[in-house]
Amino acid sequence: MTHDVLIIGSGAAGLTAALTLATRHKVLVLAKGPLTSGSTAWAQGGIAAVLDAGDTFEEHIRDTMVAGAGLNRRETVEFVIEHAPEAIERLVELGVPFNSDGAGLHLTREGGHSHRRIVHVNDATGWAVQAALLKAAEENPNITLLPDRSCIDLITGRHEERYSGSGRVWGAYALDPVTGKVEAYTARATILASGGAGRVYQFSTAPRGATGDGIAMAWRAGCRVSNMEMMQFHPTCLYNLDVKNFLITEAVRGEGGQLKHPLTGHRFMPDYDERAELAPRDIVARAIDEQIKRFGLDYVHLDISHMPAEFVIEHFPTIYEKLLALGIDMTKQPIPVVPAQHYTCGGVLIDLAARTDLPGLWAAGECTESGLHGANRLASNSLLECFVFGEAAAQDILKCWDDLDAPPPIREWDESRVTDSDEEVVIKQNWTEIRRFMWNYVGIVRTTKRLERAAHRIKLLNDEVGDYYGHFRVTTDLIELRNLLQCTDLIVQSALKRHESRGLHYTLDYPQTDPVAKDTVLVP
Ligand code: FAD
Ligand code: SIN
Repeated sequence: MTHDVLIIGSGAAGLTAALTLATRHKVLVLAKGPLTSGSTAWAQGGIAAVLDAGDTFEEHIRDTMVAGAGLNRRETVEFVIEHAPEAIERLVELGVPFNSDGAGLHLTREGGHSHRRIVHVNDATGWAVQAALLKAAEENPNITLLPDRSCIDLITGRHEERYSGSGRVWGAYALDPVTGKVEAYTARATILASGGAGRVYQFSTAPRGATGDGIAMAWRAGCRVSNMEMMQFHPTCLYNLDVKNFLITEAVRGEGGQLKHPLTGHRFMPDYDERAELAPRDIVARAIDEQIKRFGLDYVHLDISHMPAEFVIEHFPTIYEKLLALGIDMTKQPIPVVPAQHYTCGGVLIDLAARTDLPGLWAAGECTESGLHGANRLASNSLLECFVFGEAAAQDILKCWDDLDAPPPIREWDESRVTDSDEEVVIKQNWTEIRRFMWNYVGIVRTTKRLERAAHRIKLLNDEVGDYYGHFRVTTDLIELRNLLQCTDLIVQSALKRHESRGLHYTLDYPQTDPVAKDTVLVP
């Protein structure tokens, strides 16, 4: 099936690109599962942009670089932050009902921001953004949205009927999990917008499909990936044995929530950082981790019950209702919280035009490393990155359209040497094992020995999963397992290369921060 442009992913990055490209070209958007299955729909806090008269681009740039521990690329930070106000304006035009107060859009605050600058739709910003983008895409005759397609691998010169061996990307092979059929979706230009790899960890706020498929596919096709050791842990995920990945937005701390020892009630963040609960995420997550380990706790408390009940309910209606259903009234009692993996700062290396290393392939959003986040993402900068780079990819493709060749004939997916699996248990066992050792050995605090243990297990699993992949017909679970394992390998390799502690990479063997910040770039 051929289109002008193929976009892998229907979240903020993919749909932003699709809407701009559809002004001139036919666009196909693929999603794994439902069109709302990415992280975009789950975003709570909001989108950062300089909109207040007393705020400046320079301050937003500085906050981003401080949170990113100096690993950010300044030109990317400037590029994204200076385009933020127009990105918000476009969303308003699309009908996103941002909260407003008498003076304009209501701005909330989150950790690491020196100013109120987060626009939001109550505490369910992502859902409103996803809905507005989807509505516009559904109404556009040049956009075809195809849910329930699991991309397996990018199509390159190696898959041409007349093998060229070139790295030129012509689209992707994708599985229809209902029919079991694999089809080649080809295009002149392909955009990866497939989200993060959070589900490599046992505890994560990310949706189930965040298995790093795009990062793994790009790596296998020949793209460099960068800073994969920089995995962000959100400090406050609800601690509940049944509800495992419900986020309590950072805006709760932004609006006065305090972190306390659950037994003594001691407010501990001022002991760690002068910014207390509003220090950048890596610092708050590490402090909570330390409290939990030092005192043998299961969780700490996040308490906003000292604020007026109407204020809490008005600002956090979704969280309030969710917790009430679980028997917690956040207007009267503290919320039990633990850190959990939240965001993949590293990814496929791109430039300011969202170009990857491979001709014909652009990438945007959480699957990329654009230079914006550095060693730790500043809260609410990531949806922003999706809008700015989704647009940058689309503009670059429009600009160079006349130079993009039509795809040549591509070989069909070869299933001649595989059979149906008779041992699905292997997939489940390996998933569980990977996510456990990543949590225990490659978590918030690392050591070289633990990283080496993880590397050893990855090596063994690579053989087992490789053998399984070579013999059995693909399923979405198998595709995800293969990618998950590929991503763990990239994360651990990157972590072992960094001989310092910086931002999200904190290792007891190298506690110092080197004078010069360097990216960890892996070359396939
Ligand atoms: P996603 O929205 O994750 O979309 C990925 C898309 O790729 C999906 O459509 C998926 O189906 C598709 N896909 C994946 N693999 C395949 C495959 N193999 N084949 C086909 N399709 C595939 N950021 C903020 O800035 N502000 C916030 O308030 C905020 N809150 C958050 C709250 C939560 C709970 C979480 C998890 C994240 C939050 N983030 C927030 C981060 C932010 O939501 C994400 O970084 C952002 O939405 C990523 O968008 P994306 O377009 O890159 O990918
Ligand atoms: C949150 O609402 O705490 C998440 C914000 C983000 O991840 O940027």
